[in-house]
Amino acid sequence: MKISTIGSGYVGLVTGAIFSEWGHEVICADVNESKIEKLKQGEVPIFEPGLKELIDRNRTSGRLKFTTDNKEAVEHADIIFICVGTPAEERIKSHDQYLKRANLTYVGKVARDIAMYIDRPKIVVDKSTVPVKTGEHVEKTIKRYLSKDIPFWVVSNPEFLREGQAVKDCLDPDRIVIGCNQQEPFKTMRELYSRFPERIIETNIWSAELGKLAANGFLAISISYANILARLCDKTGADVGQVAKIMKADRRIGPKAFLNAGIGYGGSCFPKDVAALYNIFSEEGLDSQLLKEVMIVNDTQVEYFIEKIKEEVWTVGDKTFSVLGLAFKDDTDDVRESRGLEVLKELCRMGAPKIKVYDKHALETTREELERMGMKDGFDYNEKLLYCDTVNEACSDTDVLIVASESNEFKEIKPYHLRKAMTNGEMNRPSWIFEGRHTFNPTEMLKEGFIFYSIGRPFERK
Ligand code: UDX
Ligand code: UDX
Repeated sequence: MKISTIGSGYVGLVTGAIFSEWGHEVICADVNESKIEKLKQGEVPIFEPGLKELIDRNRTSGRLKFTTDNKEAVEHADIIFICVGTPAEERIKSHDQYLKRANLTYVGKVARDIAMYIDRPKIVVDKSTVPVKTGEHVEKTIKRYLSKDIPFWVVSNPEFLREGQAVKDCLDPDRIVIGCNQQEPFKTMRELYSRFPERIIETNIWSAELGKLAANGFLAISISYANILARLCDKTGADVGQVAKIMKADRRIGPKAFLNAGIGYGGSCFPKDVAALYNIFSEEGLDSQLLKEVMIVNDTQVEYFIEKIKEEVWTVGDKTFSVLGLAFKDDTDDVRESRGLEVLKELCRMGAPKIKVYDKHALETTREELERMGMKDGFDYNEKLLYCDTVNEACSDTDVLIVASESNEFKEIKPYHLRKAMTNGEMNRPSWIFEGRHTFNPTEMLKEGFIFYSIGRPFERK
């Protein structure tokens, strides 16, 4: 089949690369010229495990091409995937800061381009996460700008790709959702995903759109639930890791449930998707305080963690800090809505003079993000940071270590070596560790003499 993805970020690029791997002829389009130039030169502008190999292979075979020209992408394809961003946008004149609707400007622009350049019947697929009823708007927009009488069908086929595991998720999806209010496109869409006949869920377009947002909303609800339980554990002596284990053993909940307490969820999806879902309820005149609470818990979880640091460390200006993990999760370079970055910024604002930072993939994106902050808070964030190339470098000669994202690399750190590195061999120098994600064995850490805090695991501290 001839396929185009319009918008070649984490979703569009991975989706396009996978389709080309399956033998289809794919063009990935993006307005970002430097991104496309890099891709044409064989560079991959984002880090995603397995993606480079996939792109290299299919670019060389000629099945995967790149362009900045939406006309070329539209004319090439029988199936066009809309994969542009749908960021949260604050509602003007609202008293509720949590009411943020999804910004559909980019989706609208792609719909207009499709209308302008459509030259034969095509299937237009919305892969970006969008509010329910967006498909209808896309259809209306294309019809409004269409100058020729050419049939087209709008389908919702939402992405369920976790960054860091996006290639794997494409190759082994939990489900493929195909939502459409007409019958014509189902056959082609089924063929496209013919490797997973049992995983296809066919439905109308509204259910597909809402199903995607509802899934992310539910995952976010469970994370915030784990996080309030963690606060309760800090007060009561229960261990939130054990509490989650007990819950996950229930087959109705399951071992993969999002019940890992920490400093909250980040990334380009959960924060904006929960806000968008909350906004849809509000626009439909329905109450959804549950979702608002989820966002409040998530926002205040970093504050909660910072308070714990302040309580234990007391003075900040005389200490060196180290932060491990800057991306919003492991195995990605994406720092959008990263909770670790929020912790880092707060440390800077609190007057920490020097902060060593390490992340396997996200040092450059962190530097760029902090550059964008400029002198907003009266100082240059980047001047306070020492970017380290290894965990060892970040952990040597430092007073306070903060673990902000889950990573196997951090789990491998040996407590004895860590203590020695942090204190520079002066074993009577105090070392603090604050875990924003459960990483170390608290008992071992206490044995080495660390002052140790791990969210929701209080009894270990005695
Ligand atoms: C985005 C959305 O944020 C997510 O909700 C949705 O499910 C999929 O698309 P992601 O791929 O992570 O996720 O976003 P991003 O990496 O920002 O990629 C979007 C791309 O679209 C960018 O490369 C941007 O340059 C491009 N774009 C944007 C266009 O090509 N045309 C436009 O008009 C606007
Ligand atoms: C999410 C969805 O999972 C995926 O299906 C798609 O819709 C895109 O959005 P992604 O944001 O890439 O994927 O990562 P995910 O693994 O879902 O983690 C999101 C955030 O939640 C991370 O910050 C992670 O640290 C946090 N998280 C996850 C927790 O705090 N606790 C958990 O138990 C699980």
